[in-house]
Amino acid sequence: MPRHVAVIMDGNGRWARRRHWNRVRGHREGIESVRALVRAARDSGVRFLTVYAFSTENWGRPDREVQALMGLLRRFLQVEVPELKGKGVRVRSIGDIARLPPDARETLAWAEAETAACGDLDLCLALSYGGRQEILQAVRRCLSDGVTADALDEDALRSRLYAPDIPDPDLLIRTSGELRVSNFLLWQLAYTEIYVTDTLWPEFREEQFREALASYRQRARRFGLTDEQCAGGRQA
Ligand code: IPE
Ligand code: IPE
Ligand code: MG
Repeated sequence: MPRHVAVIMDGNGRWARRRHWNRVRGHREGIESVRALVRAARDSGVRFLTVYAFSTENWGRPDREVQALMGLLRRFLQVEVPELKGKGVRVRSIGDIARLPPDARETLAWAEAETAACGDLDLCLALSYGGRQEILQAVRRCLSDGVTADALDEDALRSRLYAPDIPDPDLLIRTSGELRVSNFLLWQLAYTEIYVTDTLWPEFREEQFREALASYRQRARRFGLTDEQCAGGRQA
């Protein structure tokens, strides 16, 4: 079972456009999929779930769509937090949160505080998130902390990423068939297993999640080693 699953929730717009609906309706339906995903992940024993909800690049979308997404984020948190809390789900976030509108930021801070003591599943929302920006801000922090070139190693950088305590994802799921990472978790995905499905995000529910887990269980993760080394354990 993967300990950490990361998800690029893509295809809301296409799902809506196929029905000649507004793209926002796709985002609204996509929230149902987030709900289903959280439930399925928690029930499967996944410990960390990171969902790509809004990228740095998504700020470039039309104002109306950006505002609708921010509104949906707020409403999702307001409605879901009591139940998430009841189920032991801790809400967290990664990204340039300062860039979010104040009301969304406040609701997010409230959700994080409200669920801070929950320990069954960490639901990490990637908001205003970009992998390059995350690495850049980590490098900047290294410099301002006085880390010298000689002392700058993977641990020094990793410890300055947005959520250093969360292990790298074991499994990355991307919906809607695109074969790219779109600036998601660039540092953390180094040895992550990738699963891409053509299913659009609003149609990705428990069954599709189980299919992704089944695919993950077939994978042989080698981390650069040989089959023989892996069969004999890491020390071989
Ligand atoms: C993913 O769906 C949600 C966000 C990026 C916020 P899209 O809005 O990217 O939907 P498509 O890819 O245009 O279909
Ligand atoms: C990635 O989807 C971002 C999120 C799912 C939040 P995009 O739709 O923004 O990515 P591209 O543009 O297809 O690469
Ligand atoms: Mg998209």
